[in-house]
Amino acid sequence: MNSTTDELPRIVRTRAEMQALANQWKQAGETAGFVPTMGALHEGHLSLVDIARENADRVVVSIFVNPTQFAPGEDFDTYPRREAEDIAKLAGGRADAVYLPSVTEMYPDGSVTNVRVESLSDLLDGIYRPHFFYGVSTVVARLFLHVQPDLAVFGEKDYQQLQIIRRMVRDLGFPLRIIGGATRRDADGLAQSSRNLYLSAGERRTAGAVFAALHRASVRLANGALPSEVLAEAEAHLKASGFGKVDYVTLVAPDTLQALPDRPLPEGSVARLLAAAWLGRTRLIDNISVTR
Ligand code: PAF
Repeated sequence: MNSTTDELPRIVRTRAEMQALANQWKQAGETAGFVPTMGALHEGHLSLVDIARENADRVVVSIFVNPTQFAPGEDFDTYPRREAEDIAKLAGGRADAVYLPSVTEMYPDGSVTNVRVESLSDLLDGIYRPHFFYGVSTVVARLFLHVQPDLAVFGEKDYQQLQIIRRMVRDLGFPLRIIGGATRRDADGLAQSSRNLYLSAGERRTAGAVFAALHRASVRLANGALPSEVLAEAEAHLKASGFGKVDYVTLVAPDTLQALPDRPLPEGSVARLLAAAWLGRTRLIDNISVTR
């Protein structure tokens, strides 16, 4: 820890100030860990911040609701913004700095350069939100250049995003390490997410069905059941629990995210089971690892 318990993190709003701070740390021989977020911080985010703290001397958390990852009609305007509460949650030495850039700081006027991680971005959520991962990879690349971290932590909750960022770092040679943080869950298994705030009380009671369906499916797959049967059962479980449209329940290779053939998982293999489904106006995603 680098601060006393009630100390607020340093607030940084410009790229120039962020880079000066990063340079100061580098010159002192200190490493920096980075957690990019869109704010409305919950325990899941804080667990990623704690992973950064365990692995680096300094910790930066960015809070930036990135317009380029929202399509027209999505929830950019209503996305929860809780700057003061978020900063308070990072006090007491949890983070050394909070980076809160403006839109023009991230996307200077006239900026037309984007990062596209082809193929991985066009699967799964990329089918339903075609703009989404291009906005994510573009902003994360820009944030890496602003913050210059030695490592960055992303949640496994957004598994496809994590794999895309790993691939971008590898392809572009960003000099940093990516760490995946385990999903934090509520008592009923619901993966913690800022968008859970959108759920009504009734929807919240139903929402735990995503994890229940995935968990049951993972046990069946680990015991050698046929994927097509298990995935159909999981989808039926979600619909029977009160979910509307199920965008996908799928079993993929953990790194390429390519769908696996419809045969029992080979002994000793690892796969990833992912789901996306609508509960009222809220789209929930979740995923778990399956080991045979
Ligand atoms: O996972 C998120 O909150 C966002 O997609 C990220 C990585 C902060 C980029 O805007």
